Amino acid sequence: METLLLKADENSIRYAGELLRRGEIVAMPTETVYGIAADCTDGNAVAKIFAAKGRPQDNPLIVHIASLDMLEGVVAAFPPPAQKLAAAFWPGPLTMILPRGERLCDATCAGLSSVGVRFPSHPVAQAVIRAAGVPLSAPSANLSGKPSPTNARDVFADMNGRLPLVLDGGDCTAGVESTVVSLLGEKPQILRPGYVTKEQMERVLGTEVLIAAAITHAVRADEKVLSPGMKYKHYAPDADLTLVKGDFATFRKYVGGMPAKNVWCLCFDGEEDALPVPALSYGGEGDGAAQAHRLFSALRELDRRGAKTVYVRCPAEDGVSLAVYNRLLRAAAFRVVDLRGDGENR
Ligand code: TXA
Ligand code: MG
Repeated sequence: METLLLKADENSIRYAGELLRRGEIVAMPTETVYGIAADCTDGNAVAKIFAAKGRPQDNPLIVHIASLDMLEGVVAAFPPPAQKLAAAFWPGPLTMILPRGERLCDATCAGLSSVGVRFPSHPVAQAVIRAAGVPLSAPSANLSGKPSPTNARDVFADMNGRLPLVLDGGDCTAGVESTVVSLLGEKPQILRPGYVTKEQMERVLGTEVLIAAAITHAVRADEKVLSPGMKYKHYAPDADLTLVKGDFATFRKYVGGMPAKNVWCLCFDGEEDALPVPALSYGGEGDGAAQAHRLFSALRELDRRGAKTVYVRCPAEDGVSLAVYNRLLRAAAFRVVDLRGDGENR
């Protein structure tokens, strides 16, 4: 299959709408990461997404709407907490898990009785949904297991030959996937941290928002999880990553003691030249928004540079940084070295 890579404009968006109405799939930008979209009611179209990504069949997709009217048939209920979160954060990078509506095809929900729904703020994503005339099921536009793409070049690298059209809408502003919050339980619970934080949601809801344990801990193979995506190795470059906790001086000394062949560092801005091996930076220390924006393209760049072993400066674990930490933990397959304090690791 030939894959067109077109600048997102009126003509290419109209063409995307035609393809989607015909049961085809299209890659499009959102404010978080690029997605691969299909008509959420069309099981055959949605099956093409799973095939293009090599995605496990039991991992459900998020449904994207471009107006609150589009919730009709997508969700079976839209309770007051969902209404409050929607008023505060939609359009934007927040996905809510709610009881599934009757219009959705089974493939979208991967057999669950719930659905993730999100109203993206990106004007191109909204225009594509309107052009298709139907809510769109869309996962991130990477091959399953790879870092999510935050620009059209990275989408094309993974998807060339696998779908008919990639719309180029430039770099994604957020750079990490949406916050996923479940509203099925007694208390709201974050299943995947993102740009919208626990603290922001608590302020809007006036109640506690829980954080699922699997966000910062490895899931056992036999463990029952709240979100199928928690089970899978994710966001991983080809290189082996290790997250290193501790200050910069300790980090530099630690890396200096390693054999240097194809070893790289992923560090904070301004640290590159002080390290004994080649390094890329992914944002300023403590600047969660910048780190989120740059992390996934930096992971892909490390592969392009031939890195085999990468030591990573560990971000903070709160606010937007929790999302960055969560993605890095998975990219590193939970390999963490803690050099802080007077512990044995020192
Ligand atoms: O920012 C985003 O959310 C991007 C853009 C394209 O919108 N999409 C995205 O989709 O990241 P995906 O498929 O890569 O991640 C969706 C996550 C998965 O971890 C999946 O398991 C979880 O959301 N999920 C989807 N539906 C769910 C449900 N009904 N219950 C629990 N988890 C669900
Ligand atoms: Mg994904």
